[in-house]
Amino acid sequence: MKKQVYLTGITTSGTPHLGNYVGAIRPAIEASFDESNESFYFLADYHALIKTADAQLVRQSRLEIAATWLAMGLDPERVTFYRQSDIPEIPELTWMLTCMTAKGLMNRAHAYKAVVQENVEAEAADPDKGISMGLYSYPILMSADILMFGANKVPVGRDQIQHLEMARDIAQRFNHHYGELLVIPEVVVEERTAILSGLDGRKMSKSYNNVIPLFETEKKLRKSIMKIKTNSLEPGEPKEVDGNTLFEIYRAFANDEEAAAMKTAYADGIGWGDAKQQVFEHINAILAEPRERYNELMADPAKINGILDAGAEKARVHSGRLMAKLRKATGIAP
Ligand code: TRP
Repeated sequence: MKKQVYLTGITTSGTPHLGNYVGAIRPAIEASFDESNESFYFLADYHALIKTADAQLVRQSRLEIAATWLAMGLDPERVTFYRQSDIPEIPELTWMLTCMTAKGLMNRAHAYKAVVQENVEAEAADPDKGISMGLYSYPILMSADILMFGANKVPVGRDQIQHLEMARDIAQRFNHHYGELLVIPEVVVEERTAILSGLDGRKMSKSYNNVIPLFETEKKLRKSIMKIKTNSLEPGEPKEVDGNTLFEIYRAFANDEEAAAMKTAYADGIGWGDAKQQVFEHINAILAEPRERYNELMADPAKINGILDAGAEKARVHSGRLMAKLRKATGIAP
């Protein structure tokens, strides 16, 4: 049976946090050990340019995110693990897809519309204030990432579902004009933990400044967990787990039994300070070993870069092959 191609990327514009791990990295690493899958995981550094012009941040974040995947157990021999920017066929495909994308489709993209909405609310003179063409057409770059490797399954957070629908739309239009050359991808959303809440209860995201970094020191991790927003219920008062951010974060790192025990502790009136201490100890125990591996890798960037260079070589066998076909199909090849 033909293997299912699994593909996902993380934008390299920040320090990896618990939400990245639970929502993207952990399920992707698990999938990579399933023999019926072939996995492509990459560092979306061209996407980072949409968000920041800070070159040092992009470089540093890319190393950190690469080290995180590796420290968490990604086996670069089993998967194709690479930097988006090492695949020159990706911007090339992006252009071909741009010419197949209805402008009206991009007008509907949430990522772009959210910024327009902010501008309107702030009564800016121009509703497009601060919006680059990169942000506007970001779903097309993401489509190229996906379609380049014939991805069947794309695990992402719920906020990315629309982008997958757009990738399907664009691929269908391309195929309609040029023949069945692109695989129509499917979105995979891990329902249990797809979007982790952050310190303030909103989605854990760098944009909200509410993240818990994965590999900060033990002391800082404890401090972060102590900052998670709770309510004013006193020790001894029964507490609800539903909609409780602390519980939700714990749940993402606990098995069913552990979660049930914590739920009982809540019902029995555990104090927030004690509950947070337990959550800290639990998560810290899980992260202690990977944290050591992470620190070792970060001290040896040449090792990380060597792994990514080898990944790019593997990836380009696929991207080169597909682009040769697409150049022919579009009339670009002589
Ligand atoms: N846009 C995704 C995010 O911000 C990252 C990403 C870029 C991606 N290209 C992708 C995810 C392709 C899946 C597939 O989270």
